[in-house]
Amino acid sequence: MNQDNKVIIFDTTLRDGEQAPGCSMTLGEKLKIAHALKELNVDVIEAGFAAASPGDFESVKAIASEIDGPTICTLARCNERDIEQASLALEPTSNKRIHVFVATSEIHLKHKLNMAKEEVLKAAFEGVKMAKSFCDDVEFSPEDASRTDHDFLTEVVNAAIDAGATTINIPDTVGYTIPYEFGELFQHLISNCKNSDKVIFSVHCHDDLGLSVANSLAALESGARQVECTINGIGERAGNTSLEEITMAIKTRKEYFDFQTSIDSTKLYPTSRLVSSITGMHVPRNKAIVGDNAFAHEAGIHQHGMLRHASTYEIMKPQDVGIARSNLVLGKHSGRHAFLDRVKELGFELDEGNLNPAFKEFKKLADRKKDIFDSDIEAIVLNTKTANMSTWELVDLETSSGSSWGAQASVKLKNINGTIKDTKESISSKNGPIESVFKAIENITGYNPKLINFEIHSVSMGDDAQGEVTVTVNYEGQDYRGHGISTDIIESGALAYLEVINRIDRNKNKNN
Ligand code: KIV
Ligand code: ZN
Repeated sequence: MNQDNKVIIFDTTLRDGEQAPGCSMTLGEKLKIAHALKELNVDVIEAGFAAASPGDFESVKAIASEIDGPTICTLARCNERDIEQASLALEPTSNKRIHVFVATSEIHLKHKLNMAKEEVLKAAFEGVKMAKSFCDDVEFSPEDASRTDHDFLTEVVNAAIDAGATTINIPDTVGYTIPYEFGELFQHLISNCKNSDKVIFSVHCHDDLGLSVANSLAALESGARQVECTINGIGERAGNTSLEEITMAIKTRKEYFDFQTSIDSTKLYPTSRLVSSITGMHVPRNKAIVGDNAFAHEAGIHQHGMLRHASTYEIMKPQDVGIARSNLVLGKHSGRHAFLDRVKELGFELDEGNLNPAFKEFKKLADRKKDIFDSDIEAIVLNTKTANMSTWELVDLETSSGSSWGAQASVKLKNINGTIKDTKESISSKNGPIESVFKAIENITGYNPKLINFEIHSVSMGDDAQGEVTVTVNYEGQDYRGHGISTDIIESGALAYLEVINRIDRNKNKNN
């Protein structure tokens, strides 16, 4: 690979992505994603913000001890405690990076930090110097760089390079910039900063104006050689640059950009689904690269063209991004081998520990549903992969309802200690069985979150298709999302609500 054209892929799903409302993850979930990122072949994993909480510290440390291959990075403010915590969390690995940042725009200096420019310059220099005393690989970010006065930004970047930074990351923190302007900023910094040829310039964009990928590409064209991005573009507000979009833009328009990344694009789709099932954050159907419709051709004229030659309407092949759809249908006579072969063809791996429960789920579903499609198998695999340490599990559910009298539900749950708890809830309102099931679950678990959104969609085809319910709630000021899949939509609702309750419970325990 020509190193001048190599674009370093820095994944921040576990740090900036996790900061998005409702995307908080447990240690086990973060480890699963970190393993998937390694398989995807990202160059750097930003594993968290070690000083933010004991839970974040433990996650960074666990990723640093378990994942080898990519550089493991953690974020720190320019202060002694943050940098010490960062270095302690990264102790288990020799392939490490500390990423220090301080805000530099007038608005942030005045309203957030209450610091003078000289103080910020000093903080940047000393923060990098201290990080450098713990590790050679130090990245520096001037937060809100795109709204910072160019001369001051140049001074701060000079200070960071003088102190030993090896990567200079320029964030568009609030998603304000536009491609041409951002490209010029990179050209300005690269031509005006002393020793700019000794460091890698990096770009970090947010998607508030829907321009994060375009802005990142403009920065690369102007000399940046690292892109910070997240799976499915998850992140604060409108999110960050999407890893799958930026890497496929580089790959598909290779003749234009002449850049290369080390990403194994065939892992993009499975990784996207894993992140979506762990965070409960749905991938929109029309999302580029990994959305359900990304390779679907509905219009007759398009289908006609596609049948003649795929290149008429397709600029990438679904297989290039790991979508291995087939018309092969499994059913109740399909054995373990056929199941496992299909799982592999779909780009997923199941270790021995996960294979048995996944196959059991497959058999259970085959008893309820005649044809099992790829999307059903995908749902089973992801559910098995993400089912872990749930405090509450659904044992049994019965409901009855009538348009004149309302609904009633009996719910039986098992808690982590194996104790079965059940309740019967009668609702006199006409709101139906879902509300009665939710109330029954609240009564058993003791949690009473505020329901914000309830969505349902079909996972596969046919009258007996599985329904997937996604539930969003707010509990003590924080959003949580959960989803459940079953051929019975009331059961899907119950599973989704339980997932939400389990997330709340894990988060409470994490913070205690
Ligand atoms: O958006 C931002 O400015 C950041 C920095 C901490 C890099 O996430
Ligand atoms: Zn950010």
